[in-house]
Amino acid sequence: LPIILNKESDKERKMKIKEIASGEIGNAIIDKNWGTFADNLKAPVHRWFKYPAGYSYKFVDNIIAEYSLDEESWVLDPFVGCGTTSVEAKRLGVNSIGIELHPFVYRVALAKTFWEFNISELKKVVTDFIEDLRTEIKKTRLSSIDLSNFPELLHKCYSYENLARLKIIREHIIKKISDERTRDLLNLCLTDCLRSASRAGTGWPYIAPTKYQEKYEKDAFIMFQKTTYRMVEDLTRILYTKSRKRIETILIEGDAREPQEINHGRIDIAITSPPYLNNFDYADRTRLELYFFNHASTWGDISRNIRNKLMMAATTQVNRSDFDQKRPLSEFIKAISKPVYDELNEKIKELGRIRLKKGGKKSYDYMVAGYFNDMGKVLFQVYKYLKKGGRFILVLGDSAPYGVHIPTERYLGMLALGLGYWDSEIRVLRTRGKKWRNNPQRHKVLLKESILMLSK
Ligand SMILES: C[S@@+](CC[C@H](N)C(=O)[O-])C[C@H]1O[C@@H](n2cnc3c(N)ncnc32)[C@H](O)[C@@H]1O
Repeated sequence: LPIILNKESDKERKMKIKEIASGEIGNAIIDKNWGTFADNLKAPVHRWFKYPAGYSYKFVDNIIAEYSLDEESWVLDPFVGCGTTSVEAKRLGVNSIGIELHPFVYRVALAKTFWEFNISELKKVVTDFIEDLRTEIKKTRLSSIDLSNFPELLHKCYSYENLARLKIIREHIIKKISDERTRDLLNLCLTDCLRSASRAGTGWPYIAPTKYQEKYEKDAFIMFQKTTYRMVEDLTRILYTKSRKRIETILIEGDAREPQEINHGRIDIAITSPPYLNNFDYADRTRLELYFFNHASTWGDISRNIRNKLMMAATTQVNRSDFDQKRPLSEFIKAISKPVYDELNEKIKELGRIRLKKGGKKSYDYMVAGYFNDMGKVLFQVYKYLKKGGRFILVLGDSAPYGVHIPTERYLGMLALGLGYWDSEIRVLRTRGKKWRNNPQRHKVLLKESILMLSK
């Protein structure tokens, strides 16, 4: 196995994980919102795509300041999502590399990190485009537009007229805008409108249709116009504050578990929030967008093209026949930490027993196994890219599927030590799930979100 095993015994390694109660990282005071997208909803550029899985740009800012990163430094985010890390690194004048495997989310990150427009030219192109679009929509009889190719989900989210407007905008962008970067930007405006113009509640389509709350529908053209002008305004602001240093912002559409074209020993700080072990299906979360932009038209398409490729984090990704029934955890995990392997195996077996008694028979057992098999590979890849003395900083949540507590941050910390990282520290960001505390069906552990800090 291509691993750099520590010479100490597993027992000694386990002891080295420090749980730090202090609410600080260096000079920065830990904020419980760092693990959430809340701060980004109001921040220029970050607000262009509301990604519930995203974390706070302020977390990235604090890490960049704490480690005094500058135009000579390199930051890596192996799960860059909609690009929070890349946007902040670029704004603050630090080189960055981001990896994202979801093709749609990757394109969002690309659009959010391209600021090299000639702003006055862009303003003109956008204004002309909007006026042209207004005329086009006015002269079209919306009820005559053919919408039969759209999956049912889209018809549930919009009235016929509004969906027709959205379709006209989509086609107008293809017809009238030849520059790829401007097109990406306008498509991102349209993406934002898909949610803001819809009559379906915010959780939709992730939440089951019976649970979503209807809201008032908004005219898609008006929303598009508003969003577009706001994005151009954000670009102007960000160009103003952006560092003038020449730096690189690289995005890779790829798999964090596999080797990527990144020089070994190049990265100063890797910072990320990997998928949590909480049954969040990233492919499902973007169903509305994937259907609208013709990336998929059925659940099957989404599974084949996206869901089955992403790292394991949801039971909807588990194909039971892909796992070795007797040994679902990999030999790699066993080799890097026998204590983690043994403890996890017990929990996986317990989950296997519990699932048979439950109506839904959810495959939490293999989801947990797959998650650690995948994260072991990511810890290994990132180790190679880091400089000696570099850090890998992860925002993580633990979980308790069917009431069985999985302390994700502790297991990953131990696996990292087994791989050769020399230090592993856990700091609690916030506790969560209080509202379930009195429910007898639930586990007794208060779940938390933590920061795991690894050093090479
Ligand atoms: C918690 S989100 C990261 C969000 C990010 N911090 C942000 O602010 O946008 C995790 C991301 O990992 C991506 N992902 C899942 N499996 C992956 C893999 N094997 N390689 C790279 N990215 C992956 C998901 O598509 C998702 O966007």
